[in-house]
Amino acid sequence: MSTRPSAQRLVEHVDRLAVDHPPIALDSVDFTVRNPVEFEARFGHVLDYMARVELEVDRNVLEIATMLPDPPEIDVHFYRDVWQPQEIQHGLILDRLQVELGRPPAEPDRDSMGAKLKVLGALGRLGPLQDVARMLYYVTGMVTERSAVLAYNLLQDGVVEMRESAIADTVIGPIKRQEPGHYAFYQLSARLLWVELAPWQRWLVRKLRSLSFAPVGANNDEQKADFGEVMHTLGIAEESDDFAAQIARVETELLWAQHAGLVVPAYITAAFREAVELADARRRLSLVDSPPGAA
Ligand SMILES: [Fe+2]
Ligand SMILES: [Fe+2]
Repeated sequence: MSTRPSAQRLVEHVDRLAVDHPPIALDSVDFTVRNPVEFEARFGHVLDYMARVELEVDRNVLEIATMLPDPPEIDVHFYRDVWQPQEIQHGLILDRLQVELGRPPAEPDRDSMGAKLKVLGALGRLGPLQDVARMLYYVTGMVTERSAVLAYNLLQDGVVEMRESAIADTVIGPIKRQEPGHYAFYQLSARLLWVELAPWQRWLVRKLRSLSFAPVGANNDEQKADFGEVMHTLGIAEESDDFAAQIARVETELLWAQHAGLVVPAYITAAFREAVELADARRRLSLVDSPPGAA
């Protein structure tokens, strides 16, 4: 089959990730912060958001197992042996950093699974629908990991600008180097599977994706507002459409190829704009709630 070489490439990619990117050891990290008060004030909430999302991979693994009752071997190898062990360390390190800065630890939701997902899992026992679920898993993974790559790059710029070199060199730098490999896994997988889907499966992927898209880790309005704040701090709130276009490039190319000239699907730009709006609304509310001068 013509897809053989790429399927082989996927296996090689995962093997290489396992060898080149062992999980980052906690004792390799230097948590020295020169200006902890300033650093916490600027990036504390970003660390908290990222720590929570990274630590929620435990739940993501449960979700994947539910969504894909009969997954290909390579997917299991990737998420169990490579991806989860790396992401958990990212979460533990970022969480430890925020605790060192005097913040409470993140509160990840490690085990609650939505009913929607269970239905998808039950349907997934039918082979053709499992391929639809798999495709959704890959496009979600692509956008999530691409968001992580861009967000860690921007965070790293800020950390360097504040001359917090221990954090840049031993926390954000090492973490951000592990994210592009995750993105590449999902992108290769998505490209391989998309060409095998029938028109009705593709239609269903587009439909379900349009209905269920949310920024990574934003599962309710509070978390969406938190994400909007992260966008403000990283400087992407003003250009949220550009950010959306960058993270969704391959999704747009694959799922929406028939819409020539489409830069980014509207459900993605709308979700990021909503996050920023919710953050802004919450800021206004806290100004009203606080006594004058307190905010
Ligand atoms: Fe990560
Ligand atoms: Fe990742």
